[in-house]
Amino acid sequence: MNTLPDIFDHCHGIVPLRPRLEHWMVALLRDPPTLQDMLDTHGAPLNIQSAGPFRCNITNLIECVADFDLPFLPLFARKANKCLTYVDAARDMGIGIDTASYAEVAQSLARGVAGHRIVCTAAVKDRALMSLCAANGVTVILDNFDELDLLQDVAQEAARPVPVGLRLNGFVRDGVTLYSRFGFALRDIPAIAAQLADSSVMTLQGLHFHLNGYSAEDRIAAISQALPLIRDIRPDDQHDFFLDIGGGIPMNYLADTDQWPVWLSELDRALTGARAPITQHNDGLGRAPGPDGVSGSVDSYPVAQTLVQEDWLRKILNASSGERSIARHLRDAKIALRCEPGRSLLDGCGITVARTAFVKQDSHGTSVIGVQMNRTQSRSGFAEFALDPLMVPGPAPRGPATEGYLAGTYCTESEWLTRRKMVFPQGVRPGDLMVFPNTAGYLMHFLESRSHQFPLARNVFVQSDPTAPAEPDPIDDPT
Ligand SMILES: Cc1ncc(COP(=O)(O)O)c(C=O)c1O
Repeated sequence: MNTLPDIFDHCHGIVPLRPRLEHWMVALLRDPPTLQDMLDTHGAPLNIQSAGPFRCNITNLIECVADFDLPFLPLFARKANKCLTYVDAARDMGIGIDTASYAEVAQSLARGVAGHRIVCTAAVKDRALMSLCAANGVTVILDNFDELDLLQDVAQEAARPVPVGLRLNGFVRDGVTLYSRFGFALRDIPAIAAQLADSSVMTLQGLHFHLNGYSAEDRIAAISQALPLIRDIRPDDQHDFFLDIGGGIPMNYLADTDQWPVWLSELDRALTGARAPITQHNDGLGRAPGPDGVSGSVDSYPVAQTLVQEDWLRKILNASSGERSIARHLRDAKIALRCEPGRSLLDGCGITVARTAFVKQDSHGTSVIGVQMNRTQSRSGFAEFALDPLMVPGPAPRGPATEGYLAGTYCTESEWLTRRKMVFPQGVRPGDLMVFPNTAGYLMHFLESRSHQFPLARNVFVQSDPTAPAEPDPIDDPT
């Protein structure tokens, strides 16, 4: 990571949230002609990506679990990014793919990922999807009894028993049940396992959960409660039974995590009138003042985190469950560990670049910076993108310092690329490039929409040879 100041000089939040940047991003941002050339060739907005950090993130995860001497299969949750370059990289590194739709399964198979390295965790699975999985040995993670019945029917036509995992629901931590709409109640698992043991068309290969949020303690509780279940239901001779702990491995977006509490306290000061607003219309982004002070959570991914990626996983594996560590339990019981990281494997892999089109004033006299992209091109399931964009100046002469808000292409008053106020110390002009950092995980694809019939942003990958032109990802040009 490189945080040299010059590329941050042109734009920052009025209370900054400065992003971490990978070396390849810094090199590109310091080379405006190349960046402009890429936009001229591939259009704008443009998702520019690198598979290098993806490979490093996979290696780090694998090496972490190797320290515990556990069989391990990470499965890349490709719902976090649609590009096929990552599927190819995952295939070449021998890891698996977690799929959420028919297209994701079909494309993964077509790229040569073996069926036994694919799991299907789609939230809703129809007959066509189940047939595709059954015909190709893709493990179906069952969520409910209707899915079980449908697969029982579909699997009659399969040449081999269809591998199945069961999604678990109802873990308890500190006396509180972790809410989820997904999965079977833990108490139902023994009966389902017995039904599957009698089936000639399905075979139970493991248990699965994916928990909301990023808490290591929730995962420790869940694994501890899954272990005795596995002991009860696994046939004696089945050694490769898996426990898949899903995704949610956290990552950190900020160069300096201490900026987050400062930003939060400035937001609260603005909400109580102690300072000028730092958000559009003094929006609390989920926080609101009340008689007991400001409360509520900002509706954003928790961008400042200190326990992330392999350190987070190491904490879980080292945690005690009874007299032994979680890792020791898994090893002694010969359980194969699986996980389904999406966002955290894509850390450092992408930026989204768009052109500034205009600068004007709204009816309150506040500057509006019109950018040629829409908010769905830098959004995940959260309402706010709580990270400062960067600006690469175009050819126009610089102007006076400007403070304002970035507006996108959709024709609503609510169309802001971020509701946080940005500062442009040397002004902002049409033709300047706005760069949204670290967008590969969810931000560029999860919500992207073609409203108003704007084309979707294209996706290109920089190469390890910096003189080689960026390669378009085949997802944008299906043959
Ligand atoms: C079943 C399942 N697995 C894995 C993931 C990936 O989670 P993350 O990208 O937070 O690692 C998700 C995300 O929603 C999921 O629903």
